[in-house]
Amino acid sequence: MTVTEQPAAFRNEPILELRRAPARESLLQALRALDTRLPLAVPVLIGGDRGATEGIDSTDPGAPERLIARAGRAGADDAAAAVEAAVRGAREWASRPAAERAQILRAAADRLRERRLELAALQVRECAKPWGEADGDVCEAVDFLEYYALQAIALERGPELLQAPGERNTMRYVPRGVAAVIAPWNFPLAIPCGMTAAALAAGNAVVLKPAEQSPGSAGALVEALHAAGVPGDALSLVPGYGEAGAALVRDPRVHVIAFTGSAAVGLEIVRAAGETPDGQHHVKRVVAEMGGKNCVIVDSDADLDDAVPEIVRSAFNYAGQKCSAAARVLVHEAAADDLLERLSGAVDVLKVGQAESFATEVPPVIEREAQDRVRRYAEIAERDGTIVGRAEGGPGEGWFCAPTVAADLSPDSAVLWEEVFGPLLAVTRVRDTDEACDIVDSLPFALTGGLFSRSPATVERVAARTPVGNLYVNRGITGAMVARQPFGGNRRSGSGSKAGGPDYLLQFVEPRVVTENTMRQGIPVE
Ligand SMILES: NC(=O)c1ccc[n+]([C@@H]2O[C@H](COP(=O)([O-])OP(=O)(O)OC[C@H]3O[C@@H](n4cnc5c(N)ncnc54)[C@H](O)[C@@H]3O)[C@@H](O)[C@H]2O)c1
Repeated sequence: MTVTEQPAAFRNEPILELRRAPARESLLQALRALDTRLPLAVPVLIGGDRGATEGIDSTDPGAPERLIARAGRAGADDAAAAVEAAVRGAREWASRPAAERAQILRAAADRLRERRLELAALQVRECAKPWGEADGDVCEAVDFLEYYALQAIALERGPELLQAPGERNTMRYVPRGVAAVIAPWNFPLAIPCGMTAAALAAGNAVVLKPAEQSPGSAGALVEALHAAGVPGDALSLVPGYGEAGAALVRDPRVHVIAFTGSAAVGLEIVRAAGETPDGQHHVKRVVAEMGGKNCVIVDSDADLDDAVPEIVRSAFNYAGQKCSAAARVLVHEAAADDLLERLSGAVDVLKVGQAESFATEVPPVIEREAQDRVRRYAEIAERDGTIVGRAEGGPGEGWFCAPTVAADLSPDSAVLWEEVFGPLLAVTRVRDTDEACDIVDSLPFALTGGLFSRSPATVERVAARTPVGNLYVNRGITGAMVARQPFGGNRRSGSGSKAGGPDYLLQFVEPRVVTENTMRQGIPVE
């Protein structure tokens, strides 16, 4: 296997079959057991030493009075101490053969497997992830650990170079050093796990700053990695707000920053990391995976029996809080009335409810500010266009938002251009797929996109024109799987290469080439 090939031995972790009653019962049992242990205590963990366990509370978005985790609140001093530990830890961790690091990551995957029910239950409580999504998140975390572990071994071998007579050329990839990992809450286990696993697999030490909304899930991840054998110095946990992340970004001893989150924060990180103060002997590498405004194009020949349920799932599952979620539909004018009628019927009957109920299709959003934001955009949609479908807003308690479809918004409406990150879908009529492609092309984001069409020529044309990182044809636009759909955006949606793909690890190493003259060197004279 060469560096950028897929590891043949890799298989995706199978998801639970939730249609089976025993699978559902085992999850509910895990939830009941978790509830008896709440709130979880999540310490600041620096170089293996437990620090503060107070300062940040994560709560249940569906029942905000319920405390899920109490975490320490790391500030700039903790971030600096964690980087200091990582500088120490990086040397020893990097000196281990890739196979040894890989074995430890795979042991961590085993620990997540053993705790998969409890970890899914934790996401239901901490982030109001519906069961199917929560289970998928745990499986994706396992996949990242297994996939990057296998890739690290291939990476260590390095690529083959052309050899000429009289010289030997070798190329090796060496770890960059200290990686700061800054994660969002919407994949509270999988995303911090993916970035952390990649950095560790490639031989870097990591300081992980999880999202303030989901420290409990991050605590479980770090516990699994430490228990599997990652040394305390090679992995620190600094739960905290943006200030802790910003301190890591500024620290001159950090070599690589792996960030996933909003474009506003990502662009700020890119700017701050670009500073190279005197004494910092390297240029920081930033891997920034950011937001999107994901469009689904529906052509006049599309099969609406397929398109409608897939669009509804893509827009409203997990309340539209996946970075890949559908935010806009660009529909051929000939199919628009039919599509709108059917979308509106489908959205009107969406089941809004608590994440722990298996019947729930749309759970609450993560926090009060998110609810305010979504409601603000829904008001703008009402002002700038027509509301064509809206489900009941859910039970009173919790940060529920009514799933809404709006149509025919004025072209400059903010709803069409800004990331809402909630259950609001905007439909625009277009003359043809070329006009749809023009609209997609005019957006600053380029994360995911979709196309429903029965014409192979249209599929080819749209695929050739679209700038998005992941285009899905005749299917939903969420649910990327490690190794099957390497994932990540272009333009203002992302600056890195794709997570769960063959070249992701390359971002955490630097290449070094040694060229040796192998001609006879003469006899040394004493
Ligand atoms: N492209 C992808 O793969 C992907 C995946 C998931 C989520 N997202 C995006 O993430 C966003 C939702 O997540 P979020 O609300 O947690 O994002 P966010 O940008 O608010 O926060 C992300 C992380 O950055 C930290 N942070 C905040 N300010 C900071 C600063 N000044 N310096 C350093 N760190 C700082 C936060 O504490 C958090 O840990 C959406 O925009 C979504 O599209 C993108």
